[in-house]
Amino acid sequence: MPGTEDAFYLTTPIYYVNDAPHIGHGYTTVMGDILTRWHRQRGEQVWYLTGTDEHGQKVLRKAEENGVKPQEWVDRLIDTEWKPLLETLDIANDDFIRTTEERHLLGAKAFWERMHANDAVYKGSFSGWYSVGAEEFVAEDDVLDGEGEDTGHKVSALDGSRLEHVTEENYFFRLSDYQDRLLALYEERPEFIQPESSRNEIIAFVKRGLNDLSISRSTFDWGIQIPWDPSHVMYVWIEALLNYVTAIGYGTDQDRFERLWPADVHLVGKDIARFHAVIWPAMQMASGIEVSHRVFAHGWLLVGGQKMSKSKANGIRPAEIVDVFGSDAYRYYFARALTFGRDGSISWEDIHARYTSELANGLGNLASRTAAMIGKYFEGRLPDAGEPTDAETAVVDLVADATARADAAIEALAPHEAVSAVWEIVESLNGYLAEQQPWQVAKHDLVRTGAILATAAEGLRALCVLLAPVMPKATAALWESLGADAVIGPLSDQRIADVPRWGQLPAGTPVTKGAVLFPRIEVEDA
Ligand code: MSP
Repeated sequence: MPGTEDAFYLTTPIYYVNDAPHIGHGYTTVMGDILTRWHRQRGEQVWYLTGTDEHGQKVLRKAEENGVKPQEWVDRLIDTEWKPLLETLDIANDDFIRTTEERHLLGAKAFWERMHANDAVYKGSFSGWYSVGAEEFVAEDDVLDGEGEDTGHKVSALDGSRLEHVTEENYFFRLSDYQDRLLALYEERPEFIQPESSRNEIIAFVKRGLNDLSISRSTFDWGIQIPWDPSHVMYVWIEALLNYVTAIGYGTDQDRFERLWPADVHLVGKDIARFHAVIWPAMQMASGIEVSHRVFAHGWLLVGGQKMSKSKANGIRPAEIVDVFGSDAYRYYFARALTFGRDGSISWEDIHARYTSELANGLGNLASRTAAMIGKYFEGRLPDAGEPTDAETAVVDLVADATARADAAIEALAPHEAVSAVWEIVESLNGYLAEQQPWQVAKHDLVRTGAILATAAEGLRALCVLLAPVMPKATAALWESLGADAVIGPLSDQRIADVPRWGQLPAGTPVTKGAVLFPRIEVEDA
């Protein structure tokens, strides 16, 4: 695959297909999409991977409850739910990996062979507690007596899920051997696990000491067989983490693997940070591949103050929001209203309020007023910008400054800061129009009116490029209404670094009043 050298390689977790996606899954996928689209807009090569985690007992049991074979169950959910989610949210992923695919099976087996050859795996016996809900072994210290519906059962202190006692002959991974090397990794590369809160938690966890990890199961067969012992299947996490390498050719296309590896960013929810920042780098060390660059753990979406999940019946499906507000507003809301890396509450009222004030009245109004006045006073031709006064210079300076800050925020994996920097441009342009009052000036000075509107149009040009990663549809429509395609080329070819260069839209460019970008929405019960 030519042209992927040094690509910025970003991954989402692969999602369990026990059920349909909710907005918690959509959150990670949208944020990954915004980050990768921004990198593309910089002109970089990018590889954005997402996918599904299809093996393990959680999925198997769900299929059994529904009376179908697990393969049939996952095939159905992928077609009806998980692939359509990408369309619903307007995701531009480069690849989608399913762990039931041949490339994953071959690559995962090759990786296990390598860990085995390096003496990182041994056979032993396991006796302890397992949570099928979280697909994880739970240490004795975290086992509690269940209450209510769980009376008579043990539950996990980590997430309240019900536990089962397991006694089995298993293969083990020598995780305990990696304690020092992991601590050295966190020390030498402080950016490896972010944000700081997750980093501290991970370091404290590893310092308490690591136990070897049971990594195979022999009581069911919905999984990938251990290459040298087909009576065992791989523990689902130890198989799932491998998607990040099998998707890019580990064990099947070595050249391609070497071109894309290591991953630049693994985006994960904080609930699964340990798997990615402790077990996964230890596995990478055990197989002799380079360790990924960064793991970023974002917070939880809270609905009504509680972590959203299907089992709590507060799980909202992404389409419920997109059907009302559109995919652009959805993407904007999650990027803008939450601090990436912290828990945050979302509500229907808040989405509606931001949609109205920031999108419809803010950006939408700016775009429609500018185009309408160019239509009214200049017959739809972009007027001449003339000589800038202090007011124009302030706009130009702010665009340069906000662009630099937004770009740095993306680099620091703070997309919420990037959007808020870009929004300063929207606010400043609206303020500029309110102050300059081109509709008044038009009564006596059309030259000055033209200068004001040319500045607003140029500001919209900048906003199109900066907001394309967040709102691909609205910015494409705005680009068209500015007539920019014919004079400076497609929006996707515009570079972040060129945004501050003023005067790119030449006088005379036909500007049209396109469709309303964010039509007003009346929401019942909002
Ligand atoms: N299959 C594993 C991941 C394997 S990665 C090698 C898994 N899947 S999951 O379907 O449970 O999805 C987990 C991810 O979904 C979380 O890490 C997070 O990215 C996202 N979220 C699920 N619920 C969420 C919230 N309520 N809030 C925010 N993100 C959430 O774990």
